[in-house]
Amino acid sequence: MKIFMKIGLILIKEKRMKTKITELFGIEHPIIQGGMHHVGFAELAAAVSNAGGLGTITGLTQGTPEKLANEIARCKEMTDKPFAVNLTFLPSLTPPDYPGLIKEIIDAGVPVVETAGRNPAEYLPALKEAGIKVIHKCTSVRHSLKAQDIGCDAVSVDGFECGGHPGEDDIPNFILLPRAADELEIPFVASGGMADGRSLVGAMALGAEGMNMGTRFIATQDAPVHQNVKEAIVNASELDTRLVMRSLRNTERVLNNEAVERLMEKEKALGADLKFEDIIDEVAGVYPKIMHEGTMEAGAWSCGMVAGLVNDIPTVQDLIDKIMSQADVIINSRLKNF
Ligand SMILES: Cc1cc2nc3c(=O)[nH]c(=O)nc-3n(C[C@H](O)[C@H](O)[C@H](O)COP(=O)(O)O)c2cc1C
Repeated sequence: MKIFMKIGLILIKEKRMKTKITELFGIEHPIIQGGMHHVGFAELAAAVSNAGGLGTITGLTQGTPEKLANEIARCKEMTDKPFAVNLTFLPSLTPPDYPGLIKEIIDAGVPVVETAGRNPAEYLPALKEAGIKVIHKCTSVRHSLKAQDIGCDAVSVDGFECGGHPGEDDIPNFILLPRAADELEIPFVASGGMADGRSLVGAMALGAEGMNMGTRFIATQDAPVHQNVKEAIVNASELDTRLVMRSLRNTERVLNNEAVERLMEKEKALGADLKFEDIIDEVAGVYPKIMHEGTMEAGAWSCGMVAGLVNDIPTVQDLIDKIMSQADVIINSRLKNF
């Protein structure tokens, strides 16, 4: 029995996939958990990093530098592996204390920052000077090239399928990834629609050096969100997401529910006159109610089309092990036999 367990362990270890991304971030498997508002807490980030991927704490969910410092410290208690902090740069009348958040990240020795939203150029010198690797999430080739130009180490290329903000170009990953591969010199991971070993091998075939997942990681035992959220993802099909806020040029892919239907009615009625204030009830401050209280109709929440591929709620360790085993079988059996 013990011998079999040992052999099993060796096999899993052999399923490591060395890519430019695993080398850049010092991780075992080329799998990243993207920042997720009110999901990316220390518990999930540590579970992903402990399983050999790169877990990410979502900076803006913490809000203040003090709270972020505390969350980073909690994560360090749960893992000694590298993990990242996500900084999402949003247009805002009262912006978060980005310099303060960055100072805490640097002081705590966090090795990787995932940036998203606006161009992070203003904050890059401080991060780079501290030796932090920066991966910027982009929904287009032109933004990816810009990220490369300003000195980012890698890009997370987020296709139209993704949960959250897919941008306004609507280019799915089957086109976007090879386009990125044709133009970029820095390594990139595929983001949006990734769920399993098939996604990983497909992404690598299209030129990526790994993959980033959001929605799939929510439906895990380690994600510190209400069970209702996990079950909503398992019960959803690929037909159940909607795009909202298009007319505000702030398009978000969300899981359909009563609040989303109300929101879309308003969008239809007001057309180009729609303002953020008109839909504030459906989008502002709803994440804690959904993610922590499990009130699923409280508002619009990000979810990817990949929900159609999510049928279980495993531990993160089992999920990542299974992804790597499936990738191994695809590469070494299925593809080799053609
Ligand atoms: C519930 C949820 C919240 C998210 N919040 C953020 C966020 O705060 N910042 C960010 O950069 N990306 C955010 N994302 C995007 C993810 O990091 C990731 O890029 C995306 O989920 C990938 O697509 P997938 O869901 O198909 O895997 C969020 C995604 C989800 C599903």
